[in-house]
Amino acid sequence: MGNLKEEINRRRTFAIISHPDAGKTTLTEKFLLYGGAINLAGSVKGKATARHAVSDWMEIEKQRGISVTSSVLQFEYDGFCINILDTPGHQDFSEDTYRTLMAADSAVMVIDASKGVEAQTRKLFKVCVMRKIPIFTFINKMDRDANDTFDLLDDIEKELGIATCPMNWPIGSGKSFKGVYDREKRCVITYSDTEKGTKEGEATEIPLSELDKLTGFVGENLKEKLLEEIELLDGASAEFDLEQVQAGELTPVFFGSALTNFGVEDFLQHFLQMTTTPLPRRADIGLIDPVEHDFSAFVFKIQANMNKAHRDRIAFMRICSGKFEADMDVKHVQSQRVMRLSQPQQIMANDRKILSEAYAGDIIGVFDPGIFSIGDTLCMPKEQFAYEGIPTFAPEHFARVRQVDTMKRKQFVKGITQIAQEGAIQIFQEFNTGMEEIIVGVVGVLQFDVLKFRLESEYNVEIRLEPLPYEHIRWIANKEEVDLTKLVGTSDMKKIKDMKGNPLLLFVNSWSVGMVLDRNKGLELSEFGKN
Ligand code: G4P
Repeated sequence: MGNLKEEINRRRTFAIISHPDAGKTTLTEKFLLYGGAINLAGSVKGKATARHAVSDWMEIEKQRGISVTSSVLQFEYDGFCINILDTPGHQDFSEDTYRTLMAADSAVMVIDASKGVEAQTRKLFKVCVMRKIPIFTFINKMDRDANDTFDLLDDIEKELGIATCPMNWPIGSGKSFKGVYDREKRCVITYSDTEKGTKEGEATEIPLSELDKLTGFVGENLKEKLLEEIELLDGASAEFDLEQVQAGELTPVFFGSALTNFGVEDFLQHFLQMTTTPLPRRADIGLIDPVEHDFSAFVFKIQANMNKAHRDRIAFMRICSGKFEADMDVKHVQSQRVMRLSQPQQIMANDRKILSEAYAGDIIGVFDPGIFSIGDTLCMPKEQFAYEGIPTFAPEHFARVRQVDTMKRKQFVKGITQIAQEGAIQIFQEFNTGMEEIIVGVVGVLQFDVLKFRLESEYNVEIRLEPLPYEHIRWIANKEEVDLTKLVGTSDMKKIKDMKGNPLLLFVNSWSVGMVLDRNKGLELSEFGKN
């Protein structure tokens, strides 16, 4: 038990969120560098070459040189065992990106100092807020010209509605970037170029009280500006409050430059102290404590066809409590089957390692014989409980699907249904008809290509996709109380239903959602679907 508790308590499982190009990969790389997991920064992914190498599981990834799947990285640092969940960006953004956040205990938000909060960060942030997990902010690229520091903080507060607490404060930016002022230590940490982070920077610390030395280093103007800003900051900014941080109400903010390796280790150290150990998770019998309870886990992602020759599926699960041992029997709650998990593995970038044990906080991938679904629970055979389901996130792109060869109806329905079960796409039907017309909804447009490719290569079915103009979907939260035939809509609204027959509404414009609510008193619409 002693060992179990220690093992679990030293785990930290978090996701990194950002808009593409803010520096997520670079920051992750530097974390790994400190952890000794890699020797030289640049070896995780050097865009063109390595991004390829990271996960060339799927044919489509190889063809396009992008990573469709998100990967998990585990490394050791200073006694901690760290699990980083990578959230894919760009056009490969998908519902999986959201689901990954369901498996994390906290999130690191990387923001480009010259851009502030960007679209993708905003979307991912919403999921963090829904889960009330702690969020830590790293404002990156201070070695480039940055926005005004107060404006950057204001932007986070206004755009995301979370209070900020700067832990350090930048002195200049771009060519005149001199370092940061550490508010806790009350000293200035100086910046020196580190040849793009390939060697350790020689940072020195100058206490704020040594004014002459400070002037000598940053110059009179920057020193005056810094002193003024510190005064303002000490008077105006939110006090640091760990409880608020852990409740996801306050985000500690750090400034640095991932590329030149400035402020990264300091951020990592603070972050590890402030973030939480694996958190208890809610199940239908109450909260499940990670240490007190025997092994349990839930499936948050299913990845199909990683190995084309075998057409296998891998289910990724987050261990929520206890210890997992490879040869033990576990129960899949949804099917009530007791089984051994087949070839449990840790999936690390391009490396897959067969595991003999893992602990609460860890992520494992197991071969799925076709029985797991997103949100499913695994526990010990003697136990019986289910974790809360993972919500269905709103797709933002829709298309009508038509098969080219109508004779292949059966394969088409089977293929599209299976792919939807894995959670890569969502499928809907016209409100008044059956499966003859299928509408597909996706979170990221690349999923359309994935669907077309997989139907062709795995099910031998060719399809045509006809894009639809809708961008907003709403579930009807109180469908029992609403008579849909009497619903007063707008001209850009479309009624559809999901495969279980639940009614949904599609809209071209977001303002139409409000109009329909106004026109139909008592109607309740929701942005998340319940599984
Ligand atoms: P992402 O994973 O969030 O998409 O971002 P990534 O780390 O790939 O960084 C995007 C670009 O920004 C990269 O340049 C990277 O080198 C650069 N970058 C990251 N952190 C910093 C920083 O602190 N300062 C500066 N100046 N640049 C930074 P690239 O030219 O697109 O790629 P590469 O050719 O350098 O790999």
